[in-house]
Amino acid sequence: MKHLLKMSDLTPGEVSHILDVADQLKAQQKAGGTPPLLAGKSVALMFSKNSTRTRNSFEVGVYQLGGLGHYMNAATELQQSGRGEPLKDTARVLGRYYDCVVWRTYRQCDLEEFAELAGVPVINGLTDYAHPCQVLADLMTIRERRGTLAGQKLCFVGDGSSMANSLIVGGLLAGMSVTCVCPRDYRPAADVVMFAHKYGEKFHLTTDPAEGVKDADVVVTAVWNTARPGTQDSEQRLRDFAGYQLTSSLLAAAKPDHMVLHCLPAHRGEEISTAVFEGHADEIFDEAENRLHVQKAVLAILLGGK
Ligand code: CP
Repeated sequence: MKHLLKMSDLTPGEVSHILDVADQLKAQQKAGGTPPLLAGKSVALMFSKNSTRTRNSFEVGVYQLGGLGHYMNAATELQQSGRGEPLKDTARVLGRYYDCVVWRTYRQCDLEEFAELAGVPVINGLTDYAHPCQVLADLMTIRERRGTLAGQKLCFVGDGSSMANSLIVGGLLAGMSVTCVCPRDYRPAADVVMFAHKYGEKFHLTTDPAEGVKDADVVVTAVWNTARPGTQDSEQRLRDFAGYQLTSSLLAAAKPDHMVLHCLPAHRGEEISTAVFEGHADEIFDEAENRLHVQKAVLAILLGGK
């Protein structure tokens, strides 16, 4: 593994290795601390968009591994970039200062171009196309609670954007069967659907939430009302996603011991009811915690020789 840009860059063996290292680092952290695998290493944490979990889990994770994590608001701190310095120059400069760059940005193509030129490992902290760090944390959470991923039935309900794209690929690579439920105009990326169809009956795409959650072991959702409240776009999304809320009555069709995951932040009353969220809060906050451990594993593999 050279970078972590999207789930389809990984092999099933690499996914499994990341989760194994994450489990080991989590156990070591709980027992007193992890070894300083990033001693003397610097990691740029570049954010072009807001973040609570990704920013804080990377900052703490780099610190726990003995490295230096430097957070940058890409809009205000990469000042020459704001004044027109090309992305390809910023990549070539930062690659000479840092040992690794984490970047949350908009376009996957910008991240991929940055990674080609930086000369150091680059990690996707979320783009409009992919959220691999989150999905690795989801897989870790499912595996630690269920003991296995192979054969589990995963169902995603929501917007077919970055989370859906990454969960579909990650779930299939991990041996799960994956159903994606989204409205007709919010389907996952075409290349992801093509990838998934290679897995035959292990992948199912539907617009019907009741059909999708039937017999699911794990149901995942994420915010679908991403527009500013009160705007026309937000009103449109509320209409388009009517019926796509995880409610107790919808989830009655899932397996009786099903898990529910949510990458957070959660909009209660939109993609998930308060009762479902609070009923599965232990799982959801384990999932948030596991961002820390799984990202430490990715850093330890890319930079620390694990
Ligand atoms: N789930 C997630 O990526 O959270 P943040 O947007 O707070 O980083």
